[in-house]
Amino acid sequence: MALSDLYTNFQLLFRWLHVIAGIVWIGHLYFFNFVNVPFQGTIGGDVKKAVNPQLLPRALWWFRWGAMITFLTGLVLFTQLYMYAPGAGFGVTALFWTDQGITARAIWILIGMLFGTIMWFNVWFIIWPAQKKIISAVRDGVAADPKLGKRALLASRTNAYLSGPMLFGMLSPSHYGAINMLTALVAIALGLVAIWWAIKTAPTVGRSI
Ligand code: HEM
Repeated sequence: MALSDLYTNFQLLFRWLHVIAGIVWIGHLYFFNFVNVPFQGTIGGDVKKAVNPQLLPRALWWFRWGAMITFLTGLVLFTQLYMYAPGAGFGVTALFWTDQGITARAIWILIGMLFGTIMWFNVWFIIWPAQKKIISAVRDGVAADPKLGKRALLASRTNAYLSGPMLFGMLSPSHYGAINMLTALVAIALGLVAIWWAIKTAPTVGRSI
C-alpha cells in the first residue's frame, strides 16, 4: 500500500523534485525565448549595460541548476522504475521489457529522455559557457564576439523547440502507455507547432503587448 511503502514514497518525492526543477528550468527557457530575446531588441547599449549584468546571471543561475536537478532526478526516476525492483535488485524491469520485447512505456520515456538529455547538454556545454563570456565582456565594457550570441541563441531555440515533444515523452509513459508511429509523429508535431506559435506570437518591437 502506497502510504506505508517506503519505495513508492521515495518515487513520489523524486517525481515531485523532478517536475518542480523542470518547471524552474523550462520556465526560464521560455522567459529567455518568449520574453528576453524580443525585449533585448527594444533597448539600447546603455540600458543593456545597466540591466543585463544584474538580470541575466540571476536568470541563468536558476536556468542551469534547474536543468541539472531535472536531469539527475530524471535519471534516478528512470533507475527506480525501469532498472530496479525492490526485492529483485538492479536489472531491467517489466516496465521496460516483457516477453513481447520493449514496452510502449519505455519507448515513450526513451524519446523524452533523448530530447531532455540533448537539452541538458546544450544548457551546460553550449549556452552557459557562451553566456559566461558575453556577461564578462559586457561587464568589462568590451564587445563580445558576435559568434557567441549566435551560438547561444541557436542552442536556446533548439531547446525551446525540443521542449514541446520532450514533454509528451515525459507524460505519456504513465498517462498514456500505448505508442505507434502515427501517435509519436503527432506528439512531436504538436509539440513543435506549439513552440513555433509561442515564438511567433511573442510581443516584440512594434507589436503591442
Ligand atoms: C533532462 C532529462 C530528463 C530525464 C532523464 C527525465 C526522466 C524522466 C523519467 C524517467 C520519468 C518517469 C517516467 C514514467 O513515469 O515512466 C519522467 C517523468 C516526468 N518528467 Fe522527466 N526527464 C527529463 C527532463 C524533464 C523535463 C525538462 C521536464 C519538464 C518539466 C520533465 C517533466 C516530467 C514530467 C511532468 C514527468 C511525469 C511525472 C508523472 O506524471 O508522474 N522531465 N522524467
